[in-house]
Amino acid sequence: MIGATGPRLFRVEQTPGPAGPSLTPRTAVVWSVLRAELDRRPAAELTVLDVGGGTGGFAVPLARAGHRVTVVDASPDALAALSRRAAEAGVAERVRAVQGDGDALAGLVEPASVDLVLCHAVLEVVDDPAPVVSALADALRPGGAASVLVAGRAAAVLGRAMNGHLDVAAALAADPDGSAGPRDTLRRRFDAEGATALLAAAGLTVEEIHGVRVLADLLPAAVADGQPGALVELERALAARPPWRDVAAQLHLFARRPA
Ligand SMILES: C[S@@+](CC[C@H](N)C(=O)[O-])C[C@H]1O[C@@H](n2cnc3c(N)ncnc32)[C@H](O)[C@@H]1O
Repeated sequence: MIGATGPRLFRVEQTPGPAGPSLTPRTAVVWSVLRAELDRRPAAELTVLDVGGGTGGFAVPLARAGHRVTVVDASPDALAALSRRAAEAGVAERVRAVQGDGDALAGLVEPASVDLVLCHAVLEVVDDPAPVVSALADALRPGGAASVLVAGRAAAVLGRAMNGHLDVAAALAADPDGSAGPRDTLRRRFDAEGATALLAAAGLTVEEIHGVRVLADLLPAAVADGQPGALVELERALAARPPWRDVAAQLHLFARRPA
């Protein structure tokens, strides 16, 4: 079971550096949203749960910022890499790696014990996202927050079409789940409305929706690599604004369990 209290060590940095996460088009907008949540309780050591947290791209910086993070992931290899990364960062005692399934959190995490739950790039690969979201909501304390990142449907249709795969784009656009069929690596993709409904059905109130990678995947590598700072700033500027938000490669939903 997770849950602990104690002094907070230091903050997640706004800019890249040894104490903070590196900010890229994949991460900058999500960190901006998380940073605002962490800043609501600047002296608190939060209890964080990262479901499908993989190798700890978010878990380790959060631990470095002084929070206690449990990563529940189905993959033992990912958890082994997470443990190595946490040790290298000097935060092994703040990161707990648990092999388990996202829809069976009840036996791993005490209900209503978590301040912040992350579920990034997971709901598109699980058998059924509804029980996973329900488990996330149950793990949160009243007033606790959820950071949910899902694959965007519109971007996938546009991307396939721009690469000349018009048949795949058509299949993706027509499929109710936003999958291109059995050979697709993802089982489903989301639009803002569908993802909001999924979280609302679990009792979570969506407070913010941002697009992640509005432009990054569309640009020539020379542009993206040549102007990384400008690209991050432009991604930030567009992230909350439809129609750009809605054609992003991923949608980030920030939701809360009502207090
Ligand atoms: C695409 S990776 C995302 C990793 C990380 N959240 C990120 O954003 O970088 C998906 C992760 O979800 C994990 N996963 C897939 N299905 C899962 C399930 N049913 N329960 C828990 N973890 C799962 C995988 O092992 C993998 O580490």
